[in-house]
Amino acid sequence: MAASFGEKCATMVIFLTICTSCIEGQTLRNGVCHIDTETRSNRKDCSDDRPVFTRTECGTVEGRLKGGVYNFKGIPCAKPPVQELRWKPPVDLKKSDSCWSGTLQALEFGPFCVQDHPSLGTIGNEDCLHLNIYTPSLDPSANLPVMVWIHGGYLMFSGSSEFGYHPNETTVIDTGMVYVSFNYRLNGFGFLALDILSEQSETRTSGNYGFMDQILALEWVRDNIKNFGGNPDLVTVFGQSSGGTSVMSLSVSPLAKGLFHRGWISSGSPLFEITLEEAAKANLVFLERSNCTDLECIYSLTPDQIIKANPTDVYPYWGSPNTAGLPLKGFKDGALCVVDGFVIPLDPLTAWQRKKANDVPLVIGTTAQEIDWFPHTFDLNEWTWEQYTDYVRERLDPFGKDITETAMTLYKYDEVKDTPEQTLTTMISDAVMNCGNAKVAKQAAQSLKSPVYRYVATWWPSEPFSYLGLPWKPRYAFHLSEMLAFFGFLPHYMSNPTEEDMKFQALMQRAIVHFAKEGVMPTELNWPEEPKGMALIGSEMLPQEDYHAEECKFWMDNGFYAYSWIN
Ligand SMILES: *[C@@H]1O[C@H](CO)[C@@H](O)[C@H](O)[C@H]1NC(C)=O
Ligand SMILES: *[C@@H]1O[C@H](CO)[C@@H](O)[C@H](O)[C@H]1NC(C)=O
Repeated sequence: MAASFGEKCATMVIFLTICTSCIEGQTLRNGVCHIDTETRSNRKDCSDDRPVFTRTECGTVEGRLKGGVYNFKGIPCAKPPVQELRWKPPVDLKKSDSCWSGTLQALEFGPFCVQDHPSLGTIGNEDCLHLNIYTPSLDPSANLPVMVWIHGGYLMFSGSSEFGYHPNETTVIDTGMVYVSFNYRLNGFGFLALDILSEQSETRTSGNYGFMDQILALEWVRDNIKNFGGNPDLVTVFGQSSGGTSVMSLSVSPLAKGLFHRGWISSGSPLFEITLEEAAKANLVFLERSNCTDLECIYSLTPDQIIKANPTDVYPYWGSPNTAGLPLKGFKDGALCVVDGFVIPLDPLTAWQRKKANDVPLVIGTTAQEIDWFPHTFDLNEWTWEQYTDYVRERLDPFGKDITETAMTLYKYDEVKDTPEQTLTTMISDAVMNCGNAKVAKQAAQSLKSPVYRYVATWWPSEPFSYLGLPWKPRYAFHLSEMLAFFGFLPHYMSNPTEEDMKFQALMQRAIVHFAKEGVMPTELNWPEEPKGMALIGSEMLPQEDYHAEECKFWMDNGFYAYSWIN
């Protein structure tokens, strides 16, 4: 039997695999083969694709060992939030006596939560609260740091199994930590604030169901991760884009207190202040659209009807059409997540001011040209400098001609060496993301005893970056670039990554692995804590006092914080 696994291991009892020797690059401890950190890059695949078993509070799960990494996919962690459980806090599977019997085959990702797909229309399933695990060990005494990933997508789209957008075997091999990813309810299912929903709830609040799903996933990690080789007392929650906004929310939610020990906010929205009352009023459009006035009616809507009733094309839009643009005077995003008084009692800035936030070490980062993710919305690659100036004038003149002039002066460019794409994406990213995140990081740092580190990723790929179906190949420090580097994916999306590209990837991994373990950055990186300083991360780490201090002062002094990304 052992021979059929290609190594000297045997499944002794249902969920325990005992090894007596390991392949090169792994070390035997307590009958389990562990990947050697030192040699993992030389490690050869062993024991590919064999069943493995471990226990959760809800029963045994079967996963797979592939290339030295154990994976379990689609483990349910809540009762399906369907029918009367729609628009309610998620219900823990174990506490509600809803566990499976026998062994659960955790071999396939669960479905995405219901969402509107740009070409396929309504996709996904309301029964979507599943999680996935990739780990180098199933040894309960391994006590490895745990990284819990929250995907982005505007709180409207995507899922934990979006190809190319979640940690996988590659990430485990590169970093040696345990990874958990999960789905949470999105759009009208996850974030509908409405008075009629508040009235039916014990807390008299509504909305933020998606955040409650995230908290439940963290409780699951606390209760179960040991049997996946993880240390429940060493959990880092990290997310990108609206996943980053989620980490910021969890870091000020009393319901998430104690469930994680470090947080990494990558390109999260710095502005979070819409109240339940304001959102509930704006969301009345949802009732109009669905032709409903009461609870019975909205609970009988089909998933597709809910998607069609979402206020995505009525101001203030859920999913702003101006995400990639320079601020448009008087035009703001609609909020999905709200200061509801229960999950989020105070907006993050106030929570920090009043020292009401969870005191854990934080990393807060953005990328220098976030907007280079979306330049196809303007065909920016073909712009002339004249088009650039016209656009800046058109957008900023309504704020005052002096605003336009100052912005143009601050963002100097060399007509030959620079490009309109680079200059405009830098300007927009500062105005709506970088400067707001600097404000957030400084506020958090002043409040927390734990360290707060800020970075701006400045790496420019050595070749236009070809990411999945993106209709555009970013050339600058685009939204998501540093996360793909951390995942270890750069070589997968570049035909010929250079040494400089790989240095950026190695730097991201080295910093975050150390942070996850120790709660501080490696001393030799000299990365100053906020509010003393921050770091630029490219192929090298450059400690700085600040990034674009003068530019940020200009945007903040002139009220542009209010135009920051929301969600
Ligand atoms: C992990 O995901 C990346 C990016 O999508 C992919 O290219 C790579 O092959 C995956 N790794 C493994 C070991 O499957
Ligand atoms: C609401 O009523 C309008 C007009 O009768 C109809 O076009 C629309 O499809 C209805 N919406 C739903 C969700 O049933």
